[in-house]
Amino acid sequence: MPLTLGSVVERFKKKFSVSGEKSAAYGSHIPGGYSRSSLTFGPHAIYVERGDGQYIDTIDGHRLLDFHNNFSCTILGHNHPRIREAIFDLVPKGFSFGNPMEHEHQLAKMLCERIESVEKVIFSCSSSEACLSAVRIARANTGKNKIAKFEGGYHGLGDPFVLSIHPVPLLLAGPATRPKPVANTAGLSTTSCEDVIVLPQNDLEACRRILADNAGDLAAVILELQCGAGGVIRLDEPFVQGLGEILRTLGILMIVDETITLRAAYHGMQSLYGVKPDLTVLGKIIGGGLPLGAVGGRAELFRMNEAGEVFHSGTHHGHPLSTKAGIACLEVMNEATYDRLNSLGHSIQTELNRWAKQHDYPFSVNGVGSHLGYEISDRPGRVYKSCRDILAYSNEEHMQIFAFEMANRGIFPMYRGQIALSEPMTAADAQQFIRVGKEIIEALYGTKQ
Ligand SMILES: Cc1ncc(COP(=O)(O)O)c(C=O)c1O
Repeated sequence: MPLTLGSVVERFKKKFSVSGEKSAAYGSHIPGGYSRSSLTFGPHAIYVERGDGQYIDTIDGHRLLDFHNNFSCTILGHNHPRIREAIFDLVPKGFSFGNPMEHEHQLAKMLCERIESVEKVIFSCSSSEACLSAVRIARANTGKNKIAKFEGGYHGLGDPFVLSIHPVPLLLAGPATRPKPVANTAGLSTTSCEDVIVLPQNDLEACRRILADNAGDLAAVILELQCGAGGVIRLDEPFVQGLGEILRTLGILMIVDETITLRAAYHGMQSLYGVKPDLTVLGKIIGGGLPLGAVGGRAELFRMNEAGEVFHSGTHHGHPLSTKAGIACLEVMNEATYDRLNSLGHSIQTELNRWAKQHDYPFSVNGVGSHLGYEISDRPGRVYKSCRDILAYSNEEHMQIFAFEMANRGIFPMYRGQIALSEPMTAADAQQFIRVGKEIIEALYGTKQ
């Protein structure tokens, strides 16, 4: 019997019925049952009891192979001994002070050594805050007010960013070559859409025109080299290099948000492009699974912070447990570990793409390193260059079926087309993803010889 969304959701609800009950019941105290709207996975979130290595055990009594990894954050998987030791070492000494601890500096030094463009670093609790700080630093240093972001770009929950992550409704989003900001949440300040310019992905000439028209007001452009939450779209290398030249000429700063993409390469994804952004936002893996964000960049851009002219503070910024766990995580993530994990990701991508092409299935896997995106499109061989391509060509119903059915068959991907690998994963785990992925595509489109 072919897979239908209805039947897949029914089996999901049955398999994860305890999670369903909790989601509904906990709504009595938390709106929606949990504090992150992104946790909803189809009908509801899947509550977890514990995680170990590459697995999570759900409250419903199922063990799932975790290709979600908290939206790509837990690159060492769960309960990794090195993270555990780092935390246990600190806990008896106390972990919340109105004083700095030395390992905050140690982590900052590691980041400066790894990422060429990063000469100084300030920490926050999350990348959302780090993105807001980066914008403030850019405004302070340029004396300009507006920022630009890309359609499809995600930079956390700050007002300037929760727009045009998904340019929907498309009717309000303007032409592809001159996009208009579209609010993706109620409650944005009325000036958010006026102060933010939206750029089209991978269209250099359109970006050149828009940036030139706004250069007098624009402090910075913030971008992901490979988007995640807005749909896994990679910016082309010549595009990013061309953009860098335009920004230098126009006196606009470049902020590269490497919250996810630091997992692509030991020196950051920017090292694969040979670009040196003015500022870099970091998060997720730098806290080893604990809450941490950071802004790094050219030393001179932090002079106003040093002079006390740019305010940057928060009770838990650079939290001792997070920075300690972050050091442990980055120590494990040495160049050899990056290579191994990236080659596992590569094996998933190449095998599934080879198979889909051979059998003419409208399925593809893209992405860099250990953070990959999959799409089920309107035709085999479709290449995506922008988030508007996703809106135009993806089969959303089949994308939902794929994600929920993965969970039904023991694998937990991110909802809407993303997966992230973790260090404990083996070739057998990659093979399991490949096998289950093929089974689901065959169930949707029929078996082909
Ligand atoms: C590229 C990017 N920037 C910023 C953020 C916001 O990070 P946080 O959830 O730590 O606030 C995210 C989160 O997924 C992200 O993917």
